[in-house]
Amino acid sequence: MQNKQNTNTLNQWMSNKFGLFIHWGIYSVPAQGEWVRFFNDIKLEDYDKYANQFDPKKFDAEKWADDAWNAGMRYIVFTTKHHDGFCMYDSKHTDFKITNTAYGKDITAELVKAFRNKGFQIGFYHSLVDWRHPHFIPDLEHPDGKYGQTDFPDRDLNIYREYLYAQVEQLLTCYGKIDVLFFDYTSQYKESSEWQAEKLLEMIYKLQPEIIVNDRLSYDKTPVFYGDYCTPEISLPNQALTIDGKLVPWETCMNMNDNWGYHAVDQNWKTAKTIIHALIHCASMGGNLLLNIGPDALGQFPTASIEVLEELGQWIKIFGHTIYGCNSSKFKPPVGCYYTQADEKTLYLHMINPLMGDLILPELDGLVKNITICKDGSEVMMVTTWGKELLLKDELRIRPPKHLSRDMIDVLKIELK
Ligand code: GLC
Repeated sequence: MQNKQNTNTLNQWMSNKFGLFIHWGIYSVPAQGEWVRFFNDIKLEDYDKYANQFDPKKFDAEKWADDAWNAGMRYIVFTTKHHDGFCMYDSKHTDFKITNTAYGKDITAELVKAFRNKGFQIGFYHSLVDWRHPHFIPDLEHPDGKYGQTDFPDRDLNIYREYLYAQVEQLLTCYGKIDVLFFDYTSQYKESSEWQAEKLLEMIYKLQPEIIVNDRLSYDKTPVFYGDYCTPEISLPNQALTIDGKLVPWETCMNMNDNWGYHAVDQNWKTAKTIIHALIHCASMGGNLLLNIGPDALGQFPTASIEVLEELGQWIKIFGHTIYGCNSSKFKPPVGCYYTQADEKTLYLHMINPLMGDLILPELDGLVKNITICKDGSEVMMVTTWGKELLLKDELRIRPPKHLSRDMIDVLKIELK
């Protein structure tokens, strides 16, 4: 059941290519990632105290939007509620929410306003899983089920489902046009029937006809695929994604260190180069990259994340046009390189590492009009007078000039005849 094809929102999202994932909630106070309650066996009443402590005085939605925009991101997916059940918006259906904290304001509303003004598409992450609601049915991935308890006679799933629907309904009626809904998640112990996925989607598409919904309303994607796009996580697929032989829109979500929510001692930061490489990889296969930041309890992006954003921005400023709106190419790139394709006649060749010398382009002999270096427009020579004995019949040998970057991923523009 893939519902959307070629709608404006979907096309815009696929063309935007690069998104900002934000994992932010009261778990930023214990500062050990968003699963802290589960992993540290924190009792419900003890966890609640983090809501009393949460007061992000330094939060500045406009600054976040500026930082993300300058880094090249063009859509946001924000955790309106994570598994802990705490609502980062003014929920009408629970008291466990941001407007009941010392901070007092609706953070989701502030973010929507700032990011929408800047030009981002707006996405809501919403957790299907709820570790706090008394009628959610626990499994092994829930604090009350992790030691194997399976019998929960006092719990009534219908009540939880009503709550979930009411929450989603509010999110889709009170914040204007929402472009993306990212549900998380259906565990391997659950069925899509727990959420009555079909009915839920019906309500969602009725409230927001253009919205796209991710694939996590079920654990398996077959025989029924609920939603509009796939979400591989912390990994890069080797090829464009298909379900039942048909291409599906997709997005890889990736964290910058080893956690989604703020973790004070996790300093395993990926470099900007690694992230740009991942973005190119996704774009070359027709997919998106959703890169995460876990802001701290005061409402600040970690310093290391800001540094990465700045570096991404330097690259995007020069090479953004080789990513946005581009797609995969049918041509085979040279070893260690990637192609993105802007239109029938325009290929971009991304060189991840400094070159060893001449580049050999498979399949392109006789098809190329000219090749230039994206950053300065200078010409790249085609080597036609010698060294031909190395080449297969359809290969083309080119000699990029020596001023290609040694530490930045450089890009060539190939115009076809
Ligand atoms: C997983 C985790 C969750 C995180 C998400 C991001 O489902 O449970 O903590 O929010 O991945 O995709």
